[in-house]
Amino acid sequence: MAVKKITWRSVFPACYGSEKMASKRRKAAVVAKQTSFQRISISDLSNPGSTLSEDLSTSLMGSNLHVFTLTELKVICQNFSSNNFIGEGGFGPVHKGFIDDKLRPGLKAQPVAVKLLDLEGLQGHREWLTEVIFLGQLRHPHLVKLIGYCCEDEHRLLVYEYMPRGSLENQLFRRYSVSLPWSTRMKIALGAAKGLAFLHEAEKPVIYRDFKASNILLDSDHTPKLSDFGLAKDGPEGDDTHVSTRVMGTQGYAAPEYIMTGHLTAMSDVYSFGVVLLELLTGRRSVDKTRPNREQNLAEWARPQLNDSRKLARIMDPRLEGQYSEAGAQSAAALAYQCLSHRPKHRPTMSTVVKTLEPLQDYNEIPVGTFVYTVPSENDLPKEETKEGGEAQKEPKKESSHQGHRHRMRSPKSPTIYSETALRQNLRNSPNSPLHPRSRGS
Ligand SMILES: Nc1ncnc2c1ncn2[C@@H]1O[C@H](COP(=O)(O)OP(=O)(O)OP(=O)(O)O)[C@@H](O)[C@H]1O
Ligand SMILES: [Mg+2]
Repeated sequence: MAVKKITWRSVFPACYGSEKMASKRRKAAVVAKQTSFQRISISDLSNPGSTLSEDLSTSLMGSNLHVFTLTELKVICQNFSSNNFIGEGGFGPVHKGFIDDKLRPGLKAQPVAVKLLDLEGLQGHREWLTEVIFLGQLRHPHLVKLIGYCCEDEHRLLVYEYMPRGSLENQLFRRYSVSLPWSTRMKIALGAAKGLAFLHEAEKPVIYRDFKASNILLDSDHTPKLSDFGLAKDGPEGDDTHVSTRVMGTQGYAAPEYIMTGHLTAMSDVYSFGVVLLELLTGRRSVDKTRPNREQNLAEWARPQLNDSRKLARIMDPRLEGQYSEAGAQSAAALAYQCLSHRPKHRPTMSTVVKTLEPLQDYNEIPVGTFVYTVPSENDLPKEETKEGGEAQKEPKKESSHQGHRHRMRSPKSPTIYSETALRQNLRNSPNSPLHPRSRGS
């Protein structure tokens, strides 16, 4: 039997008023679809541009999405005051809010991030709906959780779990933030790769299409989660090798063949992953107009340098201060090289990427360069640095605003603790170090 098309109308009722009778038939179709445990895909919707009339909460039954009123969200976000403002992207402003446990049965007290559609902006109902349809049905530890939405008159809002460390973009490039350690960068790369692999390997595969540092959000322990499904597409079905789309995405991250042809495949996401991996390695943005011309596009500039260990050492993020595993960096760079191949078929699948990144988690920030650093005796160190030996052994608790000496990491093989200042000094003297005067600026 032919599968009935589900119309946009049939999906969302609350937005545009009742039309209850007309919607009943369609509702039945949606529910029938749901009971067969199939994800509703965007292609199931025959006319995405049309107005909406049925209740999304019914259509996405089982997804546990909560429908909020605008008034409720105003209370949750303290009237969207500037104090609660987190940031703003193409969709509109994002505010932090707090849901208390009395609001809805089954909805626990928690902080949330609420995204409001900017009614004057470039994105609109379509992106909002795509986000609700995809994130409402997909659940994974590396996808940000959509808690609910609001669709009242022309207002479109999205309510997400709150991610305390914001985006990878902020963490990696914010000028005054403390640099992300190597192990954290590899953790983020692996988690984000798992998120993409989950999408690509779903029963109905999804192409994410907007993989970039600002769409990777970080939990308090730096667990990464993908956000922003407004550009996501259902992958090709049957014998199709690609889906044809208008070219959309973000400059510097989009795969060259996709830009040229509009043919979208999972391999386009793999290319974007390669760009983010490069950002993690080099600490440079995918596009940086402040750099000399030939360095402005990160992928083009860095790719030829990834398979040569000496060249690689020169392009590694100086903010790592040499504290990374050389072997780990080389493997990650070789992986980025493959992901950034101009031939999509030569790129690895995301599950291969996951497998390649998994062993790199075991490398600690073993300083690059052959030098020996002897820990000063207790008497040589200022009091507070030695009084809690345990403290010094730990990873830094918070990477933000820690003044003065910071005790970083330890090598798994040795209990030696490296003090950052001494380490820098040693690294400067090491000819292989990116901090060595000869390597800097070259
Ligand atoms: N769930 C969330 N928890 C915490 N902060 C969030 C959350 N969602 C978004 N943010 C923050 O809100 C800001 C805006 O995010 P948004 O996704 O709207 O735009 P963007 O990713 O910066 O740009 P683009 O429109 O290109 O995707 C970002 O700084 C992001 O860190
Ligand atoms: Mg975003």
